[in-house]
Amino acid sequence: MLSFQELSAQFNQSFDTKHFPAAPNTLYAPGEYFLTIGGKRIRPVMCMMGNELFSDIHSDAFVVARAIELFHNFTLVHDDMMDEASLRRGMPTVHTKYDVNTALLVGDVMLIRAYEFLQNIQPSYLPKILKIFNRTAREVCEGQQLDMDYAKMETVTMDEYIHMITLKTSVLLAASLEIGAIIGGAGEKNCEHLYEFGKKIGIAFQIQDDYLDAYGNAADFGKEVGGDIKQNKKTFLLLHALSVANATQKEALAFQLKNEDPQKVEKVLTIFNECGVGAWAENLKAKYLQEAFDHLESIAVVSARKQPLIELANYLMNRNK
Ligand code: IPE
Ligand code: IPE
Ligand code: MG
Ligand code: MG
Ligand code: MG
Repeated sequence: MLSFQELSAQFNQSFDTKHFPAAPNTLYAPGEYFLTIGGKRIRPVMCMMGNELFSDIHSDAFVVARAIELFHNFTLVHDDMMDEASLRRGMPTVHTKYDVNTALLVGDVMLIRAYEFLQNIQPSYLPKILKIFNRTAREVCEGQQLDMDYAKMETVTMDEYIHMITLKTSVLLAASLEIGAIIGGAGEKNCEHLYEFGKKIGIAFQIQDDYLDAYGNAADFGKEVGGDIKQNKKTFLLLHALSVANATQKEALAFQLKNEDPQKVEKVLTIFNECGVGAWAENLKAKYLQEAFDHLESIAVVSARKQPLIELANYLMNRNK
C-alpha cells in the first residue's frame, strides 16, 4: 500500500505537464498559471486510494484523478470570483491577476478538459463513473448557491450549514474515493461505505477549512484569513457563536453582519473566542471522524489495506493549509 506522499508524488508526475494548447494564450496561460501554483491534490490521491483499497492501481485511476483535479480547480477559479478572494495557494487568484471574463472561461475550459479525460476510460465502467461524476458536479453547484444564499440570510441552522458543506465540498471527496473503488473492482456495499466514509471526512475537512479561514496562519493557509467573516459566511463558527452568545455579543454580531466596520474581523474573532468556537470545532470534527471510521470499519477488506485512509483522515483534520 502506498502512502499519501507516494501516491501524490506519482500523481504529480503525471499532472505537472502542460494541460492546454498554446493559443489563445490569453485563455490558456492563465489556466496553466493556476494549475502550476499547486494545491494539496487530495482528491486525485483519494481516487487512487479508493482503487488501491481493492486492487493494484489501474491506469484509468490516474486518468480519472486528473479529471477530478481539473474539476476541483474549475470550482476554485469560480469560487474565488464568487467569494471576492484575491489570494489562493499564496498567489493571486485568476480573476485578480487577469480579469473576471478570463477567469470564467478558464474555469469552463478546465471543466471541459475534465470530461475529455473521462471519455477515455474503459467503456465497461464509463457510464457508472460518469453518472457519479455528473451528480457530484451538480451537487457542488447546488452547495455553492446555498453558500451564497446563506451569506445574505441573518442566520441559518447548523443542519442547513452541514447540508450546504456536504454539497459544496464533501460529495467530491466521497465521489473521488468511490470512483477509484469502482475502477478497483469493488462491490456495491463496499462502494457505499467508502462513499459515506468520504462524505464524513469531507464534512470535517470543510469544518477545518472554515476554522482556518478565521484562525489560520495566512502564510501557511495561502488564502486571506478573515475572508469568510468579511463575506458574512454562515460558517459553524458564526452559527455556534450566535447560539451561545449573551445579549451584548449577539447584538454586536448582528451589527457586524449589517454594517461596514474596518475592524470587523478583529471584533468578530473576539466574540468567536469568547464563545469557545475552537473547542466546539474540535468536538464537531471528532464526531464526523468517528462516523467516518465506523463506515471504514464496515468495508470488507483486511484492515492493513485501510491504513492509508486512516492516515489521510487524520492529516486532513489537523492540517494548517
Ligand atoms: C479548497 O480545497 C476548497 C475547499 C473545498 C475547502 P483544497 O483545500 O483541497 O484546495 P487546494 O487544491 O489544496 O488548494
Ligand atoms: C469552497 O468553499 C468549496 C468549493 C470550491 C466548491 P470555500 O469558499 O470555503 O473554499 P476556499 O476557502 O475558498 O478554498
Ligand atoms: Mg472561497
Ligand atoms: Mg466559497
Ligand atoms: Mg474556505
